[in-house]
Amino acid sequence: MRISTASPPNDDKRWRIVNATMRRHGYQAHALIETLHTIQETFGYLDESAMRYAAASLHLPLSRVYGVATFYNHFMLKPKGVHSCVVCVGTACYIKNSNHIVKQVERALDVVTGETTADGKISLSVAHCVGMCWLAPVLLLDDEAATDLTPENTVDKVEEWVAYVNETT
Ligand code: FES
Repeated sequence: MRISTASPPNDDKRWRIVNATMRRHGYQAHALIETLHTIQETFGYLDESAMRYAAASLHLPLSRVYGVATFYNHFMLKPKGVHSCVVCVGTACYIKNSNHIVKQVERALDVVTGETTADGKISLSVAHCVGMCWLAPVLLLDDEAATDLTPENTVDKVEEWVAYVNETT
């Protein structure tokens, strides 16, 4: 079992939860993904100081931690917005142009996938099947599924929802 002498980024007690995950795996490199999951569940996202802490504790280069964190769409590198916009890119949705829909949503929200709008209100992510394949392509605007989407009408639908979000948030 390895040990770690790395110090957490600050004295927030939640780092104990993260440390417990790494300790359980003997601070071995294979604990990286579980550690990143724990950080995200505990703090809501992974910032640079968290990735540095994971890298130092697991004896890994920061570039490896950053590479894993940016490879998986699941990981958020900034705080999550109050609202979420999720584009399904699973097979049924992909066949129906979801890759174009992602681009249109990014345009409408002025944000790239995996990030949150500048006002902190909306996070954009992708999912690999949200269980509504018969409605494909599917876009989830908070808990509501937007249907009958085409690359052409997506911007209008998203902008309509953003107007509603701005009125109510
Ligand atoms: S693949 Fe998109 S809902 Fe199933």
